Amino acid sequence: MSDERFFLTGALGCIGAWVTRNLLRDGASVTIFDLGSNRSRLELLMEPEEVARIRFVQADITHTDGVRAAMAESGSTHIIHLAALQVPFCRANPPLGAAVNVVGTVNVFEAAKQLGIRQVVYASSIAVYGYADEYAEDRVGNDAHLHPLNHYGVYKQANEGTARIYWQDDAIASIALRPYTIYGPARDQGMTSTPTKAMLAAARGESYQISFRGVNGFQYADDVARTFIQAARTPFQGAGVYNLAGSIVDMSEVVAAIEAAEPSAAGRITTAEAVLPFPLGFDDSELRKILGDIPFTPLEQGVADTISLFKAAIAAGKLPKETLSE
Ligand SMILES: NC(=O)c1ccc[n+]([C@@H]2O[C@H](COP(=O)([O-])OP(=O)(O)OC[C@H]3O[C@@H](n4cnc5c(N)ncnc54)[C@H](O)[C@@H]3O)[C@@H](O)[C@H]2O)c1
Repeated sequence: MSDERFFLTGALGCIGAWVTRNLLRDGASVTIFDLGSNRSRLELLMEPEEVARIRFVQADITHTDGVRAAMAESGSTHIIHLAALQVPFCRANPPLGAAVNVVGTVNVFEAAKQLGIRQVVYASSIAVYGYADEYAEDRVGNDAHLHPLNHYGVYKQANEGTARIYWQDDAIASIALRPYTIYGPARDQGMTSTPTKAMLAAARGESYQISFRGVNGFQYADDVARTFIQAARTPFQGAGVYNLAGSIVDMSEVVAAIEAAEPSAAGRITTAEAVLPFPLGFDDSELRKILGDIPFTPLEQGVADTISLFKAAIAAGKLPKETLSE
């Protein structure tokens, strides 16, 4: 049994559910701070006995005192901050998006400072970057210029600034990871969730159209979760912000991987014409300099594992047999 105590914000979400699963299996103790009450992603990935070991705090990240009180009570040694509203929600309600994504992040740093916790690991996003044609490189580096194209990206950029100032003024160290298109079980919402929805459709024998095409970086949710944990366990000085690479492939290769894992899906998974405006791929060599090797599951394996977990979940009644109307 480890004596690590993790405080995870937003861990009822996709990445957080994977972080929680890994931590519990390592013997760490976990407090989840999340406004939601829906444990379905945790239940999808874990056994009931594991979910029963989690300490839950249902509260709002925008409330400064509540965040500090919950963090204090958890006695946490490590913080991974994931709570956020994703692109469509920020677009629909920018003031709420700013409150959750920006003020929420300030609250986490402030609580860490007041409680003497010296390091915060948090999620930024490749949404801090601009259009693909603004960058000369094929694999965009950490230090390329930032030019967010939506409110969500602006809020993530603001958080990177917040982290820098907490290091400068208060010596609170931080590591941010910037994921791109995360896929895998529990990825069920957000702008880039449709490749995973196609994997679920394949597991159900349904047809599905992925909402975009083109090349981008696909990152398996379990790999990303384990990288967050590795960052939290790595003592760090400074306010580092790091891109993730993952599998940089065309969507046609994702469709091929789905068909390879589930041959009955052949011809049933299509892609819309839209392409994402962002650079095609990102360079994670700086992250490897501080963490060493980071988890990487090849795309074909990640897709096969995803479809297999979905099939098992459908058979166990954890997921409906058919897509319900959204
Ligand atoms: N999924 C991706 O592809 C991706 C890509 C880049 C960055 N990220 C970032 O990674 C982090 C986690 O992503 P995810 O896909 O797991 O997100 P998610 O949307 O699945 O989960 C976010 C969680 O935050 C919680 N939350 C929302 N408002 C809250 C509030 N006011 N107080 C407390 N909790 C609140 C939600 O209830 C949810 O459980 C986010 O910061 C996201 O912006 C995700």
